[in-house]
Amino acid sequence: MDRDAIGIFDSGVGGLTVLHELVRALPAEDFVYLGDTGRYPYGNKSPETVTRYSLENAAFLVEKGIKLLVVACNAASSVALGALRAECAVPVVGVIDPGAKAAAAHTRSGRVGVIGTEVTIASGAYTRSLRRLRPDLEIYTRACPLFVPLAEEGWTDNEVTRAAIALYLGSLARSGIDTLILGCTHYPLLKAAIGEFLGKSVALVDSAEETAGEVRETLRQTGVRRRRGRGTTSFFVTDVPDRFVKVGRRFLGERVESAVRIER
Ligand code: DGL
Repeated sequence: MDRDAIGIFDSGVGGLTVLHELVRALPAEDFVYLGDTGRYPYGNKSPETVTRYSLENAAFLVEKGIKLLVVACNAASSVALGALRAECAVPVVGVIDPGAKAAAAHTRSGRVGVIGTEVTIASGAYTRSLRRLRPDLEIYTRACPLFVPLAEEGWTDNEVTRAAIALYLGSLARSGIDTLILGCTHYPLLKAAIGEFLGKSVALVDSAEETAGEVRETLRQTGVRRRRGRGTTSFFVTDVPDRFVKVGRRFLGERVESAVRIER
């Protein structure tokens, strides 16, 4: 079973920030990535719809014979993780708990901020996870939907992006948080600009990095980690591959050479 690949899905290119960390942490593993580009974005859709899409994505990957499934999308992780775990016979790792764990361990002031898409913030998934770990925390949340198109456009640090950051994060900056969870796959691309706005006193927790650590630990516990050789990655999408490959390079560099379109 250690020869099987790790399955990973997202609504589109965003999960490539998670894949990037996974490849760094687990270079010997093979990955099969599915970007549901035909139905992107998930962040402004209802929990029911995101759950249905997520179950379909998982079924496609499980069919490929994977040993573990990574839900590399905050929107899907925040509303569909329970359904995915109930349906899938392999371990399922989402991005919410790893990010919450890192933030709860890091904060000194006990004030933690969370930003994400609308469905992620409305679900309260990060708040629940943080409170389970530390009931004493004060949690401040903010949906920042415009950050996703800005990151895809490659506008990671210009005056439009800086204005959006100031508008979305102004009240968080005044709340006295010392830790902010970047609760969306795209936000690590805006990390430098967000960090500049909030200043050095606020640590930015990137769920992608934390998730890679959790996947490594799960593989170790289940005894199916591959240690030798260099793994491969194959990409599948649900719309024409061209845009995925172009935007994907912004997220993952030249590793995104081509993708295969599947019918939905
Ligand atoms: N991947 C989504 C997330 O992490 C962002 C993009 C979308 O809205 O589909 O929440």
